[in-house]
This record gives sequence, C-alpha cells and structure tokens, in this order.
Amino acid sequence: MDLPKRIVGNWKMYKTPEETKKFFEVFIPLNLKKTSEVWFAVPYVDIAFAKEAVAGSDIEIGAQNVHEAKEGAYTGEISVEMLRGVGASFTLVGHSERRRYFQEDEAKISQKIQRALEGGLSVILCVGESQKEREEGQMKEVLTRQLIGGLKGISSMEKITIAYEPIWAIGTGKAAIPEEAQEAHAFCRKCLSMLYGEVVSQTIRILYGGSVSSENGSSFLKQNDIDGVLVGGASLKPEEFARLANI
Ligand code: PGA
Repeated sequence: MDLPKRIVGNWKMYKTPEETKKFFEVFIPLNLKKTSEVWFAVPYVDIAFAKEAVAGSDIEIGAQNVHEAKEGAYTGEISVEMLRGVGASFTLVGHSERRRYFQEDEAKISQKIQRALEGGLSVILCVGESQKEREEGQMKEVLTRQLIGGLKGISSMEKITIAYEPIWAIGTGKAAIPEEAQEAHAFCRKCLSMLYGEVVSQTIRILYGGSVSSENGSSFLKQNDIDGVLVGGASLKPEEFARLANI
C-alpha cells in the first residue's frame, strides 16, 4: 500500500507529565524526515501535556483505553468526550494487557469501539494470539474471533486501524519473525476483506507490535501487509523512537 507508514508509541504506565514534556523537548527536533505518521498513546494524565508539546507538528496524541459508556457513575473511569476534551484523537482498544489484567472481552471491546467512533475518536484495535494458542495451531481461529467479535456492530472502518500483536512477542525482546508476522497480517486482511470487502481490506492499516526496535523495525515495515508498528519499550526513549519514525 502506498499510504505512509504509521508508527505508534504505546507508553503503557510510564512517564509523568514532567517526563512527557522532557521527552518531546528531545523528540520533536529529531523527528526530521516526516515520511511516516507518528502517533503516541500515552497515560490519560499526560495527554494534555503531550498535546501541548507537539503543537504545530503532525503528531497525533491518544489514549490507551476508554470507557464504553457516554457518562455515568463509573468511579475512576474516563469517557470519550473527556479524551476529546484534552486533545486525544484516538485510543487503543483491546490491548492484550487490558484483556489479561482487566478482563476485557470481545463484547466490551466492541462497545468501546462503537462509543469511541460515535464520539469522534479513531481506534487502534489490538489482536493477537498467545504462545499456547500459536503452538496449538489456533492463531487463525483467535484472530478471526477477535476481529469478528471486536468489530461487531461497526459498519464504517474508516477510522479503524488494526494492530497485530502476538502476546508472546510483547515486552519479551523476542519479536516475531517478520515473514511470520506478514503471514498473520495477510490473514487479518483476508478476514477484513470477507467482513468489509476488498476496498476496505486494502486501505485499512494493519500494524505489527511486539518487541519492535529501531534495529528490527525496517524488516517489519518492508513486508507487504505491514503498514506500521505499535511500539512499547522502544517508544520510551526519544532517540530510539525517532530512529524508528525516520526509517
Ligand atoms: P513492546 O510492547 O514493544 O514493549 O513489546 C508493544 C505493545 O505492547 O504495544
């Protein structure tokens, strides 16, 4: 696909507002080439600071999660409108850490996506199999279930990006073999083509995530069906992430 690659940082539960400001003071001058799209999914409390720090650039700032209700008595939760109010333009949904530690299932994930789209946010839906599922030959089944379940009730895919993140590759330093990732991406695209037709499947971005670094980044980005990367650890250091963004 000829669209620019999308390079997305996922900061997880790292960086205070002060550390956020410092990060961008270093990162902005390094993000020179501007050949790819650069997005950051940061902790809620950092969004406004990150947004201010990237003002005047094309960098998008988003969240890592959002609640599925418009508003209500949900102590400790954050709504789509609140995220929009501090300048977020997108949110991750269904990251494997959310599925695992916060019991998010397909039904909840599809509710979150619907709400996010209604409220005007773009969404990155994360999917991916565990080590055990891969060993048992269930990768395709898992991806199909997560795509069909997560996208249930969604008619427009215009503001949706998919991130394929095999769980065994996240935070382990053991990235997938690029050709293996390519195979999973091609499979996701096939699923999306069946669900939404050929045009959507050819224009939707599918990112790879799991131990991506500036060293292995280009081997993923040159695969046919890999349209970008979702980066955890390597997005925390401005120099390292800038190297990735400038590939
Ligand atoms: P990692 O995390 O790059 O540290 O493996 C990726 C992710 O969880 O999105």
